[in-house]
Amino acid sequence: MNLFRKKPLNTEMLSKSLLRKELKTFDLILLGLGAIVGTGIFVITGTAAANIAGPALIISFVIAAFSCILSALCYAEFASRVPIGGGAYGYIYTIFGELVGWLVGWLLICEYLLANASVASGWSGYVHGFLEGIGIYFPQALRASYNQANGTYVDVIAIVITLLVTYLVTQGAKKALRLNNIMVIIKFSLIALFILIGVFYVKPANWTPFMPFGLKGITSGAAIVFFAFLGFDAVSTAAEEVKNPQRDVPRGIIGSLGIATVLYIGVTLVLTGLVPYTQLNVKDPVAFAMRFIGHNVVAGMISVGAILTLLTVLISMTYGLTRLIYVISRDGLLPIGLSHVNEKTKTPHNATFIVGILSATLAGIIPLDQLAAVTNIVTLMVFVIIAAGILKLRKEYGQPKPGEFKVPWVPFFPILSIVVCLYLMFQLSLSVWVMFIIWVTLGLAIYFLYGNKHSQLNKNA
Ligand code: ALA
Repeated sequence: MNLFRKKPLNTEMLSKSLLRKELKTFDLILLGLGAIVGTGIFVITGTAAANIAGPALIISFVIAAFSCILSALCYAEFASRVPIGGGAYGYIYTIFGELVGWLVGWLLICEYLLANASVASGWSGYVHGFLEGIGIYFPQALRASYNQANGTYVDVIAIVITLLVTYLVTQGAKKALRLNNIMVIIKFSLIALFILIGVFYVKPANWTPFMPFGLKGITSGAAIVFFAFLGFDAVSTAAEEVKNPQRDVPRGIIGSLGIATVLYIGVTLVLTGLVPYTQLNVKDPVAFAMRFIGHNVVAGMISVGAILTLLTVLISMTYGLTRLIYVISRDGLLPIGLSHVNEKTKTPHNATFIVGILSATLAGIIPLDQLAAVTNIVTLMVFVIIAAGILKLRKEYGQPKPGEFKVPWVPFFPILSIVVCLYLMFQLSLSVWVMFIIWVTLGLAIYFLYGNKHSQLNKNA
């Protein structure tokens, strides 16, 4: 049994792919921003400032951004030198071989599924708020995921929206992304409006005390708001549908993450400058801050914008996950039926339906606060492996050629990335670690019982 057999670095796969090649840098930046800017900034910022870090949440964002930028550099070099489908999964399969490659794929499936589910659930919260504003109330049992104490059993709106997005994604990448692009532009206009108006009302006194929860608050805050940056890796899973992946994918990754970082720091600065942090424990902090300074119309616009925003995260995440499953199944590590491409729409229908049903189930019945933390831990682990992968890539394939993206200061940057990601992982609670270990064990079981026997590499041997 060869656990470390490697996927050949065959870039022809990309040109032979059955998926349509129609995406360019600009589409990728919008795809990245669509996946990145969502629940993290619109929902989690408030509770994180109020309960975890105080105004020093700005520093937490800087730490989380720093860690993600290091990882994004590594992703970009991989995307430009190993331009095969499947994102991190494909890169690591080529560099560390099948077992580690599969594990990365398995962790990414977890990241996207849980992120998808938590966003659908957050979206449902906003929509309920909106409906209540116009006098429409759902029965308590159907309002949120299972929580006997609150009398809630299933989150119907989260299920409906997940299935709707699934349908959109089956209709073809461009169609789904066109909608995504329009909504990304709307949400940016609203965020810009928030910063431009808010900046005139900032009271520097709100920034003191700056670190009410000490240094520990800052680092725990970083491990939580890390969630806000997730999604830039979705760009790399789109490689097979990109016209010039070697050039455009690195640009898409760095571009979207860079823009998100600047925006987040701006929003957090203004938010904590407008409202005393102790009052930010609300589910719509950005709109709340506008109401706090008396701009009710802008607050309403931001609420509607947030509803759209969360939708774009759902579209991008669903899109990325279906492409990932498509590639894993084509490699034989998951049943081959999952990589069947529909003749008419040229999208992997089966993979998309499975993703939709799983996400809808998770979003509908499972309480998600813990699961967002699990999303973070699995992603941090992927980032650790990606950084280690760069060290191995340089050892085996040497320096990047002219025109290829190059991580600066190797080995320092990749090693720093590993240290920072591990540090953030250890900021998360024991129960999160337990779920992480269960997921990894399940992945190993699937590999040894199924993937190892059905891998395409058996046929090539
Ligand atoms: N970064 C994404 C969000 O914040 C997952 O919603």
